[in-house]
Amino acid sequence: PAPPATPQYRPAYHFSPARMWMNDPNGMVYLNGTYHLFFQHYPEGMTWGPMHWGHATSRDLVTWQELPIALYPDKLGMIFSGSAVVDANNTAGFGKNALVAIFTHHNPDEEKKGTGHHQYQSLAYSLDEGKTWTKYAGNPVLSNPGIQDFRDPKVSWHEASHQWVMTLATKDRITFYGSPDLKSWSKLSEFGEKLGAHGGVWECPDLFPLTLNGKTHWVLLVSINPGGPNGGSATQYFVGQFDGKTFTPASTTQKWIDWGTDNYAGVTWGNTGPRKLFLGWMSNWAYAEKVPTSPWRSAMTAPRELALQQVGAETYVTSLPVKELTQLTRIDKGNRASVTMENLTVKPALNISEKLKLTAHPQFQLKLTTKQLTDMALVLSNEKGEELLIGYDQKQNQYYIDRSKAGQTGFSDKFPGRHAGPRLATSPGAELTLLFDAASVELFADGGLTTMTEIFFLSQPFSKIALRAPGGLTVDALTYTPLALKKGK
Ligand code: FRU
Repeated sequence: PAPPATPQYRPAYHFSPARMWMNDPNGMVYLNGTYHLFFQHYPEGMTWGPMHWGHATSRDLVTWQELPIALYPDKLGMIFSGSAVVDANNTAGFGKNALVAIFTHHNPDEEKKGTGHHQYQSLAYSLDEGKTWTKYAGNPVLSNPGIQDFRDPKVSWHEASHQWVMTLATKDRITFYGSPDLKSWSKLSEFGEKLGAHGGVWECPDLFPLTLNGKTHWVLLVSINPGGPNGGSATQYFVGQFDGKTFTPASTTQKWIDWGTDNYAGVTWGNTGPRKLFLGWMSNWAYAEKVPTSPWRSAMTAPRELALQQVGAETYVTSLPVKELTQLTRIDKGNRASVTMENLTVKPALNISEKLKLTAHPQFQLKLTTKQLTDMALVLSNEKGEELLIGYDQKQNQYYIDRSKAGQTGFSDKFPGRHAGPRLATSPGAELTLLFDAASVELFADGGLTTMTEIFFLSQPFSKIALRAPGGLTVDALTYTPLALKKGK
C-alpha cells in the first residue's frame, strides 16, 4: 500500500508527476509555442524501476500539463535519458519538422551477461508534436564499443560544421559524435578524462554556445554522481571552444552550475534560439528514493535562463529564474500584496515576522539587497520550531543553506546538513533572490553567479522570519512576494 498522501509537499509552479517515480529531465525541446519536457519515469513504483519517458508540456514555463507516457521499454531495453531535436530539414527522412528523440536503450539482460555492451543509442520520432511516437526500425543507431557507461545523448545541430553533434557520457569522459542524418554516427573526439571532478560516473551532458560581449563561448555541462560539492549528485561545467570536432576548455577551475544538493541531470531546451533555458531534477541520488512524498517522488527545478559573466580571468555561467516566472507575482488585489522593508539595521538579529506575514502560504519569493555584505542569515521557522537558515559566511566567503532542522530529515542520514557554495562575485554589495515552493528553496545570488537549490519537508509551513547578523548588517531592501498561479488554470 502507498504511504499516506502528502499534498502539502506538492509544488505549485515546479513540475512534478501526478504519480510515481521521476528522475532526469529528457528530450527538452521547444516547438510551435510549446515547451516539451520528457522525464525518466517509472509509472508502477515510487522508486527507480524500468525506465519510460514521461511527458509534460507548458506554454509559459509556469504551468505544466502531464500527458500520456511517450516512450515505453521495448525488446532493446529500458528508455534511459536523452534529448530531442526538431529535424527542420528532414535529414533523417522521418518527415519535415519531425520531432526526433535520441535516447539510450539500457538492456538489463545484456547487463546480466556483464559484457559491458548493454547501453546503446536509439531513435524515436513523432510527426504530431510529441503526442505519439514511433521507434526507428533500425535501432540502435550507435552501438556500444564495450564501455560500461555509455549513455545520455544530447544532440544539437552544429551550424558551422553542418552536422548533428552528439555529446555522450562515456564513464569518466565525454565522447562527441557527428552525423549528417541522426542515423549514422562517427566519433569526433573525447574530453575530460583528466579534467574536472571525477568522484563518480559522468552522466547527462549538454553542449551549447552562449555569447558574452559579442564573443561566442561553448559551455559543456556534465552531471556527476556521486562526487558533488556537497555530497551525492551535482552538475559541473566547463567553458571553452568547440570547433565541430574538439572541445577545448579555457580554464581548469572547477565550476558547478548549482552548489546545492538538489539540482541534477539538468540540460537545456533545444530550438529556443540564442536563449538558453535550463532545468534540472530537484533531487539527489543520495536520498531521492527515500524522500517523504506520496503518491509521487520528486520535482524539477524552476526553469532558468543561462548567461555568461566574467569575473577576473574566469568566465562563469549564471543561472536566473526565467522571466516568465514573474507572472506568479502578478496576483489579484487583496491581502496578498508584496511587502518591502527598507533600511533595516540588523545587530545581532531582527524579527520581521509581523511585517512579512508568511502564514501558511508556502509559495513566495524573497529578495534582499545590501550595499555591504557581511556575515548574515535569513532564518525561516514555524510554530513547531523547525527552521531553515540561508546565509553568508564572510570568513569562508560562502553562501550556505542549513536544513539540519528544517522538518523531516530522518529518512536518510545523507539528507540533513549545512551546505555551502563559494561567493564568486567580488562586489561589496549583494542581491539575493530566493524562490520558495511547497518543499524547496532556490537561491540565486549575485545575478546568478552562485546558485543553490535544496529541498526540505516541514510539518507545517514557515510562519516566522528573522534576520541574524552578529557583526551588524544594513539591508537596503527586503521584499517578500507571495507567488500564486492564476486561478482557473
Ligand atoms: C542520471 C541517470 C542517467 C540515466 C538515467 C537512468 O540520473 O543515471 O545517466 O540515463 O539516470 O534513469
